[in-house]
This record gives sequence, C-alpha cells and structure tokens, in this order.
Amino acid sequence: MLEARALKKSFGSVRAVDGVSLAVEPGRILGLLGPNGAGKTTTVSMLSGLVRPDAGQVLVGGRPLEGDADPGKGKLGLVPQDLALYDDLSALDNLRFFGSLQGMGARSLERAMGEALAVAGLSDRGKDKVKTYSGGMKRRLNLAAGLLHGPEVLLLDEPTAGVDPQSRNAIFEALESLRDRGKAILYTTHYMEEAERLCDHIVIVDHGKVVAQGGLAALRKLLPSGERMVVDLSLAPRPEWLSSLSTLPGIASAEASGTTITLGLEDLASGGASALSWLRAHGASVSNVASERPGLEEVFLTLTGRSLRDS
Ligand SMILES: Nc1ncnc2c1ncn2[C@@H]1O[C@H](COP(=O)(O)OP(=O)(O)OP(=O)(O)O)[C@@H](O)[C@H]1O
Ligand SMILES: [Mg+2]
Repeated sequence: MLEARALKKSFGSVRAVDGVSLAVEPGRILGLLGPNGAGKTTTVSMLSGLVRPDAGQVLVGGRPLEGDADPGKGKLGLVPQDLALYDDLSALDNLRFFGSLQGMGARSLERAMGEALAVAGLSDRGKDKVKTYSGGMKRRLNLAAGLLHGPEVLLLDEPTAGVDPQSRNAIFEALESLRDRGKAILYTTHYMEEAERLCDHIVIVDHGKVVAQGGLAALRKLLPSGERMVVDLSLAPRPEWLSSLSTLPGIASAEASGTTITLGLEDLASGGASALSWLRAHGASVSNVASERPGLEEVFLTLTGRSLRDS
C-alpha cells in the first residue's frame, strides 16, 4: 500500500535517513522503532510527501508519489509528532478546519468529524476548547485530525508521547480497530514495549539505517540466546557449576547472582531439561524455575551496543 525504497535525506552533513526501505500493508501495523535522532520523523515526512528525498522513492498503491498535488497523498493520513492543533478552537472547530483543508464537503465532513471523535474517545468533549484538554486528550484529537478524510494509510509519529496509560490504551484500541478495518498503519515510537504489543512487523532504525526488521519472533532469533531460564536455588551455586552448566547441550551461557542462576538457552526444552537434571545430580535444591523472553530492548542493545532509551 505504501512503500519506501532506499530513501535518503541529509541535512547539511547529517545523514538523517540513509537508505531506508519498508512497506506498510493493509490490515497491518508496522512499527518504526529507534532512539532519538534515528531518522524516524524524517522518514515519515518523506513518506507523507512533506519532505523530498535526496534519493529513493515513495510508492502509494504501487505508484510513485510526485509533487504536492499528487492524488496519492489523499490516501495518506499523517499524525505528526508535534501537535498540530489550535488551542483557542473547540475540538470540533479544529476538525472542521483540518477537514476543509483536505477539501472535504460540508456533509461528509460533519459525519467524519463525529466518527473521528468517537474513535478518539472524545465524543462528549467536542465542543470544549482544546486549551481545556489534557495532554493525552490533545494527542487523541491529533489522531482524530489525521483520520478525518478516511485515509487508507495512517502514519503516526510518536502518537503516545507524554500521555497517561489510560489515553495510551485508548489510542492502542483505536489503532487496533482501524487495523481490523483494513487500514495500513505505520507506528513510530522509541518505546519498545509499544512496538512489541502493537506491531506485526518491526523496522529498527539507528543513525538513519535499518539495523534489523521482521516480526518479534524473528527479531528475537537475532540474539545469541533466544530464551532465558531463571533458576532459584536454596543455596548459592558453587562457582565452578556455572562453567559446567554453560557447556551442556542447548545452553549458551550461565550467570549467577546470589542464589539465582540465569541460563541463556539456545533451546528452551532441551537446554532447560539438561540444566535441571545436571543441578539435581549435583545435589542442588531448586526452589523455583521461570522462563524469560528477551524483548526488543535487548535486540537493540545486541545490534547496536547501546540502549534504546538512553542514547
Ligand atoms: N530540519 C532539519 N534540519 C537539520 N537537521 C535535522 C532536521 N530534521 C532532522 N534533523 C536531524 O536529522 C536526524 C534525524 O532526526 P529525526 O527527527 O528524523 O529523528 P527521530 O528518529 O524522529 O528522533 P526523535 O525520536 O527525537 O523524534 C537528527 O540528527 C536531527 O538532528
Ligand atoms: Mg521524531
């Protein structure tokens, strides 16, 4: 539905986007994940036709997007990172203004305004001025403004920045229902837990480049050990146990902290079983066993050597 092919954009000597390719499909949410300055907003700006790429192509429905008047742009809805709302206008007047900019006729606009407010969970606050809204409500109204003209593709740039958990859930539910109605969604975030919960496919960018992409399961496989097992013992393990455990089949690593051993497993079933029978044979008393799955934060750390949040 919307495709980026080898997009590049520099600002002076800064290579903001350096060869990003991705495809957003109907009924799917693609997560564009990366730390501050990774090039997410610049990518979204090129995808929505606001910024002209130095190189590469944007295709909407298989056709290259060309110039400001390209009809392909009407299929796209942008929810920008910086709130684009008028504080002194009511929510409805804001939507009326943005809808008329899109060239919507009065009747279809009035209907679309009601629907967009409902999706954003703001139906009962439509007449209130935006300056009386909370940060989370403004984010939701920003989303409603992007939905108004019924775009097939939604580009959302950090739509949950600074919102409370309740508004965040409301935004997630709105997006899930839009996805279920067949919209193609690109969701930009630097919160890996959001990408984990919401996205079918995740593109991880850093310094303008795609460092990895795929579904969550595929990305987890990039880690040296995909699963972890945490074993609590009643007594601290002997130091030499760790090197013995780490040579067992299916086990990639073993570390201890107090009475807890954390094992990196190549395979949960065989590695877990061999670790537990080894421990039993060596007289260890196991009080608890839990398995842990690494998240995107660890994928990012492994690929870049840096943390997503602190970089
Ligand atoms: N208009 C501009 N002029 C100059 N440099 C820019 C401009 N826009 C972006 N940059 C630079 O390009 C790089 C990528 O910025 P971009 O805003 O795309 O990152 P981002 O991933 O959206 O970051 P954030 O998570 O902070 O929103 C940064 O180094 C930024 O300083
Ligand atoms: Mg940004």
